[in-house]
Amino acid sequence: MAPAGKDTHFGFRQVPLDDKQALVDDVFHSVARRYDLMNDLMSGGLHRLWKDTLVIAVDPPRDRPSADPAARAPARSFALLDVAGGTGDIAFRVAAAGGAGTRATVVDINADMLQVGKERAAERGLDDAIAFLEGNAEALPFPDRSYDAVTIAFGIRNVPRIDKALAEAHRVLRLGGRFLCLEFSAVDVPGLDALYDLYSFNVIPALGRAVVGDAEAYRYLVESIRRFPRPDAFAEMMRAAGFRRVAFQRMTGGIVALHSGWRL
Ligand SMILES: C[S@@+](CC[C@H](N)C(=O)[O-])C[C@H]1O[C@@H](n2cnc3c(N)ncnc32)[C@H](O)[C@@H]1O
Repeated sequence: MAPAGKDTHFGFRQVPLDDKQALVDDVFHSVARRYDLMNDLMSGGLHRLWKDTLVIAVDPPRDRPSADPAARAPARSFALLDVAGGTGDIAFRVAAAGGAGTRATVVDINADMLQVGKERAAERGLDDAIAFLEGNAEALPFPDRSYDAVTIAFGIRNVPRIDKALAEAHRVLRLGGRFLCLEFSAVDVPGLDALYDLYSFNVIPALGRAVVGDAEAYRYLVESIRRFPRPDAFAEMMRAAGFRRVAFQRMTGGIVALHSGWRL
């Protein structure tokens, strides 16, 4: 329980800290079935490039192919935890990039998002490589030092207590493991910022109404981006959680940033 009177933001509204998660959950219950389609529509497909950059940074080990069967070497095992992984997009990409030893676990607080992911995994015959599990980023249901990499894409700004989620990501990483966080950021290109605001506050909620029948859910998503810490402030939060060699790279004029830190 948060101390009485402790508030946080839900988009541009102030809400009691303990109420935020339920409000976030309502948003993702509402959008789950159309979530992936909306990502393509809203970003014009750009989210695929941003996620590709994340997967390149995860760099799961690959099998070594060879015409000579004796020289073929399956890659070592590699365990990824994708927190707030929703419908499994990051896990599917890492599984495709990695070798036979790559395993991914998707943990998300929302059963509807996970259900869409499970159906996609079954369609692709990836049930063995990817596990879907209900859980809270603030209290991960995994032992210490159990993953080679931990990712979170467009998820952390929805978590009420970001410091707890960062501490948990650090706790479950093996020594030498990498944490990667893809999140919307602050546009830093003059001209693009005004255009981006116009698009975000007008077009995205209208798209949400047309495609999902819920403009409010997408208004929250746009507002929550504006409330998320700037990359240098977020890098400080990562250091406070124990991550080392913390760095970030802005993409597409600062629309998103890829944050990286290591457990050393
Ligand atoms: C914008 S979606 C991102 C989904 C996926 N990572 C992607 O990139 O497509 C945000 C996800 O965060 C999840 N989420 C929100 N709060 C959470 C929490 N406390 N713990 C775990 N997942 C959470 C939501 O249920 C939702 O699936």
